Amino acid sequence: MRVTGVTRCVLLLITLLGTWFIMHTYFDQGWKAISLRSWLGVTDKPRSKELPRHKCGNEKSCPHNYFAFRIISGAADVVGPSICFDDIILMSSVKNNIGRGLNIALMNGTTGQLLKADAFNMYSGDISKLETFLGEVKHGTIVLAASYDDVATKMNDKVRAHFVELGSSHVKNLGFRDNWVFLGAKGLKDKSPFEQHIKNNKETNKYDGWPELLEMEGCAPRKMD
Ligand SMILES: *[C@@H]1O[C@H](CO)[C@@H](O)[C@H](O)[C@H]1NC(C)=O
Repeated sequence: MRVTGVTRCVLLLITLLGTWFIMHTYFDQGWKAISLRSWLGVTDKPRSKELPRHKCGNEKSCPHNYFAFRIISGAADVVGPSICFDDIILMSSVKNNIGRGLNIALMNGTTGQLLKADAFNMYSGDISKLETFLGEVKHGTIVLAASYDDVATKMNDKVRAHFVELGSSHVKNLGFRDNWVFLGAKGLKDKSPFEQHIKNNKETNKYDGWPELLEMEGCAPRKMD
């Protein structure tokens, strides 16, 4: 009986020691692996928290005295356009102030404040409303425009001339269901560098009947002239 008791004690001791040894080795290696990873910089920190967020969600930040902007055209006749200026979404489907046709926001180029935002349907009779809207734009106003579905159907020379005056190079060539995004200003001496235009082309269209959407981001100087 005594021998059996001693054997039991020894076996228990061996088991305990064995367990401790295995646990110690396992955790020790685990710790080494972790510290080696962090030493190498291979950590699993959430990356998004490290990246600074820029105004309008843009890739780059803007210098002092520049307004960040981001203009996205509509996608086919399904997804509406959106216009962001100085980190404020001025026009979007969520804001419920966009429409098929030409979407335009007017900003005070000095203060960066919104003056007007409106959508003009280019199939229906909005063209005279648009002529008036553009005719009233004052010197020093920044104009942002985004297409949705179609902007060319009732486009006329008067409207084209207004956009040329605002610095557009492409407005003359806009055709049926082309996409167009533009930022210009009243009183601009040169052509605006902020403009993109994609033709509706059966061969290259991304959607059935419409080209790919356009997305333009940048920094507009506080007083564009
Ligand atoms: C912009 O705002 C300033 C200050 O309120 C004003 O003097 C100026 O006329 C405005 N310009 C435009 C184009 O609205």
